Amino acid sequence: MRQVYVNGEFKKEDEAKVSVFDRGLLFSDSLYEVTTVINGKLIDFNNHMKRLDRSMTELKFKKLLNHLDILIFHRKLIELNNLKEGMIYLQVTRGVADRSFDMPKDKIEPTVLAFTQEKKIIDSESAKNGIKVMTLDDMRWKRCDIKTTQLLYASMAKTEATEKGFDDAWMLREGYVTEGSSSNAWIIKGKIIMTRQSDNLILSGITRDVIFKCAKDLGYEVVTKNITLPDAQSASEAFITSATACVMPVVKINASQIGDGKPGKFVTALREEYIKQALESSI
Ligand code: PDD
Repeated sequence: MRQVYVNGEFKKEDEAKVSVFDRGLLFSDSLYEVTTVINGKLIDFNNHMKRLDRSMTELKFKKLLNHLDILIFHRKLIELNNLKEGMIYLQVTRGVADRSFDMPKDKIEPTVLAFTQEKKIIDSESAKNGIKVMTLDDMRWKRCDIKTTQLLYASMAKTEATEKGFDDAWMLREGYVTEGSSSNAWIIKGKIIMTRQSDNLILSGITRDVIFKCAKDLGYEVVTKNITLPDAQSASEAFITSATACVMPVVKINASQIGDGKPGKFVTALREEYIKQALESSI
């Protein structure tokens, strides 16, 4: 049985509790981060913490959390659960208050919880074969840049895609690809790697940031621009990025096969470079 973290304490997963009045539960008034663990070490932890600060500031949480405290309980969770490969999920809610749409004026203590989940990151089958994505209307709110736990539409989109035999959904807003249900979307044409500019309609991925650097290190050009569905379907390669997917090839978009239907050489090189740099900088 897993040991999880809730408000300063480690508990067995079936003994951990949060209040029914928690605003995270009632209003999705809460934020999260997912940090990958490989060989028992955290990948890109500091950047995840910077984004958590940003999310908390955007939602006007009264006080930011101490990154060192978070690092300590992340490491403790890895140790207690003997986690070698997978992720740590961290959620911070505004806290507990009587149900009211008006956010509490008095300072309340945030609820902080975290748990581990095992997942194959490096030897993932999907990375070997590539994934198939279907496109759906992006019906999310217009603050997708904040990593809130308001994930219902993303979950519906992923479910619809898997029910139809795809692995994931890419979302389209006004004809342009925004992102995947829980990842950033990329295409490659010739030697140019493209992804949407970061704005309020996508989450600016931590992995996405590192990929800009990896691409540069490999001598590839990256351009941020709006991508249409025909652009994506006629790409020579395509992929997604996220903490747990790292760099994941996309080999089909709706009915269109991408390239020869197998992970292409640029994506494969980027994935290798990303994993190399991630391991070198893990803590
Ligand atoms: N999701 N876009 C969305 C909508 C996401 O949910 C995620 C991450 C990303 C990629 O961000 P990053 O590279 O920082 O992981 C982009 C996480 C992994 C999740 O919800 O499980």
